[in-house]
Amino acid sequence: MRTKRYMQSVVILAVTSLMALGSAEAKSWNTMITSGTSWEDTAGDPIQAHGGGLLKHGDLWYWYGEDKRNGYFPSPGVSCYSSNDLINWKNEGVVCPIWVRDGESIVPNTPAEFQSSTRRAVMERPKVIYNDKTKKFLMWVHLEGYADGDPRYQISSAGVAFSDSPVGPFEFVDFFRPVPAELHKTFCEETSADQMVRGSTFRDMTLFKDDDGRAYVIYAAESNYTMHIIELTDDFCGVKPLVLGKTWNRILIGEHREAPAMFKYRNNYYILTSGATGWTPNAARMYTSGQILGPYSSLGNPCLGELSETTFNSQSTFVQPLQPDKGIFLYMGDRWTRDDLGDSRYIWLPLTFDGNDQPVLRWKDSWSPSSLTPQN
Ligand code: DGJ
Repeated sequence: MRTKRYMQSVVILAVTSLMALGSAEAKSWNTMITSGTSWEDTAGDPIQAHGGGLLKHGDLWYWYGEDKRNGYFPSPGVSCYSSNDLINWKNEGVVCPIWVRDGESIVPNTPAEFQSSTRRAVMERPKVIYNDKTKKFLMWVHLEGYADGDPRYQISSAGVAFSDSPVGPFEFVDFFRPVPAELHKTFCEETSADQMVRGSTFRDMTLFKDDDGRAYVIYAAESNYTMHIIELTDDFCGVKPLVLGKTWNRILIGEHREAPAMFKYRNNYYILTSGATGWTPNAARMYTSGQILGPYSSLGNPCLGELSETTFNSQSTFVQPLQPDKGIFLYMGDRWTRDDLGDSRYIWLPLTFDGNDQPVLRWKDSWSPSSLTPQN
C-alpha cells in the first residue's frame, strides 16, 4: 500500500513538473535566432547591445554593446547580456556606465578634458577580451563626443576600462589616440589641425586576440580613410611602442572603410568591413592576409543573394568563431534605425567558407547556432 501511494505521488510529481517545465519553456525560451525582429531578453525587454561584440568565458557567452535606449544622447553606457546558447540573453545591466554631471554625459574618471568641459561623451563599438595573465577583463571602446554647438565627432579616441568580472563593473583606465601627431604627420596626407596636434583619429574599432595570446586593436584611423592595427601591451591596457611593421601597421590604405570585424581561419586573418555612410547600410568588403599586420588584400563583398549590396541592410560589428575548424562563424551586424537608434535591430547570420575557401554570407530567416554544418 505504502509503495503504491508512493509511486502514485512520484507519477503525479513527474507529470506536474513536466507540465510546468513545458509551459515555462514555451513562454520564455527561444530556439532560433531571427534577424531583424525585435530581440527581447529573458525578462521580455528589447536587447540594448548595439555595435557590440561577444566574449566566451567559462560556460557562458557575454554580449557587450551600446545601450541606445535614449537614442544617441544621453548614453547610459555599455550594457552586457549573458547566455548559454547565443539565443536567450539575460540582461546583466549597464556594466560600464557613463557618468552624468551637470546634465551632461561624461565618462567616469577621465582626465581634465572631460571633467571640465561641457562635452557629451558616448562609447561606441565596445569589445571585451580576457587577459589570462592578469585575470582582468579589458574593454576597449571608440570614445566619442561633441563640443557645444559643433556637431562633428570631436574626441575620436580609444577608451579603455577593466573589470575583475565579465559582468563588471568596468573601471575607466584612460582615453587616448594611439598614433601620435608626429607619426600621423609622417604617414598621413591629412593635415587637419586637430590630428596634427592630438594624433590620428580613432573611430570604429574591434579587438582581436590571437592563438598565441597576443591581442590587437584594429580601428578606422586618419579620418576613417585608413585602418590601423596595433599590438596591445601585455596587460591589454594600452598599445606597444609603435614600430611600423613590427607592432603596428597602416592597412586598407585610402579605402575609407568602417566597422571592422576580425577573425582567423586556417592561419589566414580576415577583416570584414563596411563602407562609411553613417547609419545607412552599404556593401560589405572582406580583406585577408597571411600576416596579422598585413598587408591585406580585398576579397570583395562576401554577401550573396538579395540585399547583398547593403549587407542585408546591416553594418558589421563582430565575427565570432563557432566551429572555426570547420569554417563556421557568426556574423553580427547592426540594422540601424537612424531616427530611433534604440530600436535598431540585430542581423546575426552564419558566415561560412565555400569549396574554394572563400568566405560567404547568406541570408537566413531563422537559424540555430547548434545545428550549423559547413556551407548550410
Ligand atoms: C558609422 C559608424 O560605423 C557607427 O558606429 C556610428 O558611428 C555612425 N557612423 C554614426 O554616424
